[in-house]
Amino acid sequence: MILKNKNQISHSQNDEKRAFFIQNRRYLGAKTKLLPLIEDVINDSLQEWNSFTDLFAGTGVVGNRFNKPGKELMINDLLYSNIHSYHTFFSPEPFDTDKVASILQTYNECDVKEDNYFSINYGGKYFTVENARKAGYVREHMEELKQKGKVNSREFSILFTSLMYALDRAANTVGHYEAYRKNLDMFNPITLLMPALAENGTNQLNKIYQRDANELVREISTDILYIDTPYNSRQYVDSYHLLENLAMWGKPELEGVARKISSENRQYGKSKYCLKSAPEAFDDLIQHANAKLIVVSYSNMAEKGDGRSNAKISDSEMISALEQRGKTISYEQDYKHFTTGLKDIENYQERLFVCHVGQ
Ligand SMILES: C[S@@+](CC[C@H](N)C(=O)[O-])C[C@H]1O[C@@H](n2cnc3c(N)ncnc32)[C@H](O)[C@@H]1O
Repeated sequence: MILKNKNQISHSQNDEKRAFFIQNRRYLGAKTKLLPLIEDVINDSLQEWNSFTDLFAGTGVVGNRFNKPGKELMINDLLYSNIHSYHTFFSPEPFDTDKVASILQTYNECDVKEDNYFSINYGGKYFTVENARKAGYVREHMEELKQKGKVNSREFSILFTSLMYALDRAANTVGHYEAYRKNLDMFNPITLLMPALAENGTNQLNKIYQRDANELVREISTDILYIDTPYNSRQYVDSYHLLENLAMWGKPELEGVARKISSENRQYGKSKYCLKSAPEAFDDLIQHANAKLIVVSYSNMAEKGDGRSNAKISDSEMISALEQRGKTISYEQDYKHFTTGLKDIENYQERLFVCHVGQ
């Protein structure tokens, strides 16, 4: 049941002027702060290019930087929640701005008093009960709009992505959903904003994929291939299980204190790059890449080893795979890393390996 609340109406009218940007999201390993280095290195390495592929795109901030008029952007990830974000920011599908803005406004004005799947599972844990009720209600409502054909697939993705970014701002977590803080301290009501889209956001050439990177790389050809695999054994589908559950909306029974979807239902998102076999997967990827320039991000946060946060691929394994394809140069930048929020890692460096294929 939705009840209108006058205070929230005036609040939402102010919000019409606000918007969320693609980088306004907490995500492990997001490269927002590294974008100037990535852009400088690519501009110096390849003057002319027509296509850019962000193969392990996460938030999509890197692909966004290379989403330019007349250029082709290919963007890929395993997670459903990320794919909605790419449809929001990069899809060429037209959408009705006024319609979406008006739906978001009704969502911001609603006051949901009854419990639902989302509030029963996550209320009082990752979010306040009020925010969880609202999130569950609006997610169900957007599902109905989709089923009845009242929104097209891009409009649905925008509604979903707006909810996902709103929840991130209100989550009682350190930025992922492996755990929530014992004392709930995020009380602000969620507000669903419109996305801030670049004027070139409707680039007709863009392509969005939800594929295993090693399979996809065999089927595409690109001028620039940007590779940013997971670095350690932390699986993204586990860290972002809640957003995946919200995206799939099959409302399954959840498990444990963290209220995760079952391990079986998370298999689609499990990455070889989090396993011991990561070096073989990386080598296979590089040897099958059809690109002029291969750019790889990798952290030196930890030595290669067996611990959970240890790097799965060593520098020498990475360089040796790349050198088989061409001249390889490495670049480094000191970087403030997004960790569990407890402590910043000292002397942390983010590296870029750039391979000039065939040179
Ligand atoms: C380090 S994050 C990428 C961060 C991204 N560059 C950013 O700035 O937000 C790695 C991403 O790779 C995805 N991933 C892991 N294994 C994959 C695979 N085999 N194929 C496609 N995507 C994969 C994960 O879901 C995760 O979003």
